[in-house]
Order: sequence, then C-alpha cells, then structure tokens
Amino acid sequence: MLKDDVAKILISEERLQARTAELGQQISADYAGQTPFIIAVLKGAYVFLADLCRHLTVPHQVHFMAISSYGGRSTQSSGVVRILMDLTESPEGQKVLIIEDIVDSGNTLDYILRNLRTRNPASIRVCTLLSKPSRREKPVPIDYIGFEIPDEFVIGYGLDFDELYRNLPFVGILKPEFYE
Ligand code: IMP
Ligand code: MG
Repeated sequence: MLKDDVAKILISEERLQARTAELGQQISADYAGQTPFIIAVLKGAYVFLADLCRHLTVPHQVHFMAISSYGGRSTQSSGVVRILMDLTESPEGQKVLIIEDIVDSGNTLDYILRNLRTRNPASIRVCTLLSKPSRREKPVPIDYIGFEIPDEFVIGYGLDFDELYRNLPFVGILKPEFYE
C-alpha cells in the first residue's frame, strides 16, 4: 500500500479539511462582490484546488498552468523553471488568485509572478497550501498560507514523489529509503 511508504503523517486529513474550509471562507470574504480568476499550478495544486473551490461562495473562474521545476526523481528544485502548459485565456484586467501546493525555494512562484505581471492583471494574490520558509531563496509575497512546515520532503494531498502519492488524503513524510 502507498501509505506504508510514509514515515510520518505531518498533517492529518482532518486538519487539511478544516484549514481548507477556513481559507475558503477567508478568500470568499476578501473577494466579496468580485469574481477572482483562479490560476491553479499543475499538477500539485489539483487536490487542494478541488477542496478549496467548494468552500468558495464567490463566483470564480478556474484556469490552469503547468510548471516544471524538478527533474523526475528528485527532491530538490533544479531552479530552472519552465511553462509546460500555458493559460488558455488572458488574465488581463482580472483579479488573479494563484493556487499553489507548496512554496519551497520560491523559484517557481517568483517565475510565475514575474511572468503574469507582464500580462497586466488587475491584481495578483497567492494562496499556497504549504510553505517551507526555511528553504526560501527568493522572497515571494504570499497572501494565504495553509500550513508552514519544516524542511522535510512531503507527499500526499496533491504532492508527489516521482508522480506517485498525490492521492493520499494527508500530507506525510516519505520514508527516506524511497528517495535515497
Ligand atoms: P520551489 O520552486 O522550490 O518553491 O518549488 C515549488 C515546487 O516544487 C512545488 O510546486 C512542488 O511541485 C515541488 N515541491 C517542493 N517541495 C516539495 C515537497 O516537499 N514535496 C513535493 N513536491 C515539492
Ligand atoms: Mg512536483
């Protein structure tokens, strides 16, 4: 079983669900009367997005971008960020809300923010499920953070190692023997 590969559960399913509901309420209050243009960063954000958007009471559009910064079987960002799949609609004049799974070094988010700013959105805010502040290489503004976590490689609730474990309902730490 996939969950037998987990050394420790860092954030339980119950805590994830409760925090996602809270973030949904906060975002709905902050965007009252507006229609945010959500940009979810694939692939990692898809599980969080699916739960979060069901707690949004404001109308919103959901768009996707796919970004790559890791090489396959790696637990370190390569620092080289590429757009694998771009938006299908322009965010010009829109109130963009970026949804990320995790901000680690900040390289990916920094790249996305610089790229999107050139497309003249009305505003840009960022919501990330997880943040590893101790790993930051680029200072990036984050408006909504689900959980700050220590410098551990985590999987589950959308986060993968080598494209596996995204479906786990909790956030856990993979047994080191699986990536060493
Ligand atoms: P950054 O560019 O270093 O901030 O890394 C951002 C991306 O790396 C995230 O969107 C994730 O896809 C991936 N990532 C960073 N830390 C982890 C982790 O602990 N587990 C799984 N993926 C991670
Ligand atoms: Mg990944």
